[in-house]
Amino acid sequence: PFEAAIFDLDGVIVDTAKFHYQAWRRLAGELGFAFSEEQNEQLKGVSRMESLELLLRAGGITDLMPEQKETLASRKNEWYKGLLETLTPYDVLPGVCSFLGLLHSRGVRTAIASASKNAPLILEKVRIRPLFDVVVDGNSIVRAKPDPEVFLEAARQLGASPDGCYVFEDAAAGVEGAIRAGMRVIGIGDGQMLARAHLTVNSLEQLEPVFLLSHIGVNGH
Ligand code: BG6
Ligand code: MG
Repeated sequence: PFEAAIFDLDGVIVDTAKFHYQAWRRLAGELGFAFSEEQNEQLKGVSRMESLELLLRAGGITDLMPEQKETLASRKNEWYKGLLETLTPYDVLPGVCSFLGLLHSRGVRTAIASASKNAPLILEKVRIRPLFDVVVDGNSIVRAKPDPEVFLEAARQLGASPDGCYVFEDAAAGVEGAIRAGMRVIGIGDGQMLARAHLTVNSLEQLEPVFLLSHIGVNGH
């Protein structure tokens, strides 16, 4: 049975993945190296400090003290939060609101499962918090994706069993975490990058009719 839908936030619900990349690229630039969009794929879904570790490794920087790393991560986060200031409800990705509406009308419960500590701020800025029954984010979980913790905690709070949950993810680390949680995963984005997902689409907009027909048995239109 399809009990619950669990959504990643950055890059699935809101187009904030590009802001993370811009801020990390700026930090790399200040540290004296280039950082490509392709390299950035590895950072998606990963916690802030682990992302920094990956970035530093990409730049060959190996000799920083923990305090220096904290400082760099804070700077990145300040730039990122500056970019978040521009967010409005129009930055909710295409298809999100109608898809959530259809799920609710079919009695499917919904959650956000995000690694981000900025998730509450983002949800408030784009005003879609009321569309989710549960929010689990980087402020309440210990182990980052690809660990399944964030997904299992969302299912627990929803009162759903993992095999009744669908996860919607744009990051390879998130797809992996959802699989480890024993859930079914829909990849949003590049099919090659998200090869382990059970199904991949370009956006939720594209998914809606296909998904509803084959998995819930409803023609949404
Ligand atoms: C994830 C993003 O949702 O959150 C990552 O995909 C990000 O890119 C992570 O590093 C942590 O976010 P924040 O906002 O706590 O730095
Ligand atoms: Mg994401």
